[in-house]
Amino acid sequence: MPKLFIETLGCAMNSRDSEHIIAQLREREGYTTTQEFKEADLILINTCSVRERPVHKLFSELGVFHKKKKEGAKIGVCGCTASHLGEEIIKRAPYVNFVLGARNVSKISEVLHKDRAVETDINYDESEFAFNDFRTSAYKAFINISIGCDKACTFCIVPKTRGDEISIPADLIINEAQKAVNAGAKEIFLLGQNVNNYGRRFSGDTQKINFTELLHRLSKIEKLERIRFTSPHPFHMDDAFIKEFAHNPKICNSIHMPLQSGSTKILKAMKRGYTKEWFINRVEKLRAESPGVSISTDIIVAFPGENDEDFADTIDVMKRVRFDQIFSFKYSPRPETEAEHLPQIDSEIASQRLSYLQTLNNEILDEIHAECLGNSYRVYFEDLIHDGYVSGRSDNNLLIKVKGSEELLGTFHEVKVNAIGRTILTGEILA
Ligand code: SAH
Ligand code: F3S
Repeated sequence: MPKLFIETLGCAMNSRDSEHIIAQLREREGYTTTQEFKEADLILINTCSVRERPVHKLFSELGVFHKKKKEGAKIGVCGCTASHLGEEIIKRAPYVNFVLGARNVSKISEVLHKDRAVETDINYDESEFAFNDFRTSAYKAFINISIGCDKACTFCIVPKTRGDEISIPADLIINEAQKAVNAGAKEIFLLGQNVNNYGRRFSGDTQKINFTELLHRLSKIEKLERIRFTSPHPFHMDDAFIKEFAHNPKICNSIHMPLQSGSTKILKAMKRGYTKEWFINRVEKLRAESPGVSISTDIIVAFPGENDEDFADTIDVMKRVRFDQIFSFKYSPRPETEAEHLPQIDSEIASQRLSYLQTLNNEILDEIHAECLGNSYRVYFEDLIHDGYVSGRSDNNLLIKVKGSEELLGTFHEVKVNAIGRTILTGEILA
């Protein structure tokens, strides 16, 4: 049997695309997977292009794969950088056998058998494609609910690599969730670039429902215990959505709300569609309806035009909201985006802002975690980690480990936290 090595960079959508690629190659081409690229017959990199650094990394990695791979092994580049660089990849690295865009995953078998194939059409519609089954985790199932993104955030390359937004028909999503639950998963994780815009556009003639209704229908699946999703857009978080989120007991009490900036002026320049006040108002409404909700976010510092006052607004939102997790980045100019040619902020200032923000975030996190000590949480165990520990997440997304082994995987337990750390808490099982 031929062997596949696949490296996945970037977001959860890329992880799910990699599962689809593995599924197609297993079923149609007879591949098995390996963790060791030197023994692989096919080496794939599923790339991310959201920031510049991973793109540079791609070419140095490709060089290493080319030098050390098994004789005759093929190399393919998939994902967002494949969509945006296309042919250019083969020009810069002529030993690459094919390039497969983020919206062309279903063509993996085709490109495998063509010499130097480049399939990167971002208008290609895979919203109803029936992929074969493969899941990395038996306990939690990633499920795509839409492809592409219709927003035009001025910093973001994703609409240029994943194309226009198309929702996947609700009956396909529900079938997939039901299949995953039948196979033993108790948690589903819905994926889309802008999940709460679900239902605005379908490619075929299908019943049109919105995200709130989709959540409601999914929660009727028996034996499904938990629903998570990423990412909702703060602009689309209306009251009906917040009510469903808060009062549907299967929806986990944790949400990702990508802020990007706390300054209304910068949010406007980013074309995010909301203000600082709207964001804070949505957080307050969420916390009122759903006490204890954990809120994570993404923040970009040093977007063009961001002055000290704008940055102070971001810090102000951080202090008022006290996010449970922050993914923070220095602005990175991306090709074909509106902000690409705007005058850049000095990189020294950008680094200072990022480090100030991350220090503050660590202080807040330490305080939040200190409050967890002695509390108990219902944890769903999903991963075996080192030294005889098993880890899982609470309903409000705390990562908690306990001493234990395989038999805990896929089970829920009440856990009391008895030691805290910045990324993981340690506890003991009560029941
Ligand atoms: N729709 C997705 C966003 C995908 S990009 C979501 O809402 O999660 C993931 C994150 O990368 C963004 O939220 C943003 O914070 C960051 N990002 C995107 N483009 C960037 C850029 N040009 N520079 C720095 N960070 C960026
Ligand atoms: Fe990017 Fe904005 Fe869509 S961040 S993925 S264009 S919602």
